[in-house]
Amino acid sequence: MKVLVLGCGEMGASAIEDLYKHGKFKDLTIATRSIKKVKKLLPKLKGRQINVSIHQIDIEDRKKLVSLMHSYDVAINCVGPNYKYEVKIAEAAIEAKVNLIDINDDYETTYKMLELDDRAKDAGIIIVMGLGASPGINNVFAKAASDQLDTVDEIHTAWVMSGADSGGLALSYHLLYSLSGKALTYQNKKMIEVESFVDGKERKEFLEPIGPMDVFHVGHPEPITLSRVFKTAKIVDDKATFHPPFINDLIRNLGKMVRDSSGPIRVKGNLIDHMDFAAAYFYKICKSLKKIPKEGALRVDVKGWRNGECKIITYTSSGMITSGTGTPASIGAQMFIDGYIKGKGVLAPEECVHWQEFIKTMVSREIGRLDIKMRDA
Ligand SMILES: NC(=O)c1ccc[n+]([C@@H]2O[C@H](COP(=O)([O-])OP(=O)(O)OC[C@H]3O[C@@H](n4cnc5c(N)ncnc54)[C@H](OP(=O)(O)O)[C@@H]3O)[C@@H](O)[C@H]2O)c1
Repeated sequence: MKVLVLGCGEMGASAIEDLYKHGKFKDLTIATRSIKKVKKLLPKLKGRQINVSIHQIDIEDRKKLVSLMHSYDVAINCVGPNYKYEVKIAEAAIEAKVNLIDINDDYETTYKMLELDDRAKDAGIIIVMGLGASPGINNVFAKAASDQLDTVDEIHTAWVMSGADSGGLALSYHLLYSLSGKALTYQNKKMIEVESFVDGKERKEFLEPIGPMDVFHVGHPEPITLSRVFKTAKIVDDKATFHPPFINDLIRNLGKMVRDSSGPIRVKGNLIDHMDFAAAYFYKICKSLKKIPKEGALRVDVKGWRNGECKIITYTSSGMITSGTGTPASIGAQMFIDGYIKGKGVLAPEECVHWQEFIKTMVSREIGRLDIKMRDA
């Protein structure tokens, strides 16, 4: 069996590590823009011996990407930012007829990805969108909780991310692009527009060391995919915050600056793109944060009916963003090979992932803590 990992940034490296340690694959190929990062990572890998090969690639080179992809059983896309590359990589996977797992978290691309569903089915492949942390683990939690109810009324996903553990540069682009302005939330069976980090303020309890935090609506794919799948749900929202919360304002302000800008700015004779500047600035601020706990947390509450009683089932977990995102993608590739991810077309995790096997495997990786509760609504 052969697996291809695209991208070797923070999330890609974590997926590669997990594949190397636990993988079912005989051959692992890592294809990315800067192979220097791969060469630095490989000597640190421990686990079973697998054949590893490295390819330098620019995702924009479609022909090269398709010809590279076609000989693999499954590919994992950890390239970012997703608004730039997710659809391009999915189209290449369709052309190469290779199964694909990605960790997309940009809601803007989710509708475009769903439009590729027929083409993916015709190609006979599955494309699993957003199998990271959020989306990813949270979607699987939503499926797990909903399977323990007879009908589902409401799904509330939430997350807290530490500014001191803010991933690689691509994640900074994502935050400024997708979480700095409009967001979508599903209320009374209608998708409505709200403002990220402004609307929907609500206090939620997260696992220690996070504790209680005020979270807000954010621009994320969960309301889109979960409301499609759980048709009885009247409310589906995704709320989040950064720790410390001033990062929320930083995202909004820098994102607005990028949206309001017209063309690049000239600095000492060089033309600089506003987004390139803003993402680099945001990344630097986050990396300079000291004495902030690095752990983040996830929470899913599903409200519905069980044996005639109204219940709320809550899944909460905590851990680091890199292992919390790269590991699910790697587990996804392994579960696909083992037949625990089934289906054809473009699917969200809640539609195709065998949640019992996924949660069992996540727990066995010991990358965070998990708590599950049921209470009367
Ligand atoms: N679903 C979730 O829960 C979740 C959580 C966290 C992050 N994410 C998403 O995951 C993505 C990756 O995040 P990250 O922290 O790993 O970012 P990162 O460290 O910047 O990694 C991005 C990777 O993509 C590669 N890349 C970028 N453009 C490329 C191109 N044209 N051709 C080939 N490779 C290219 C980069 O190569 P270079 O090294 O050359 O730059 C790098 O290896 C982000 O888009 C983020 O939004 C999702």
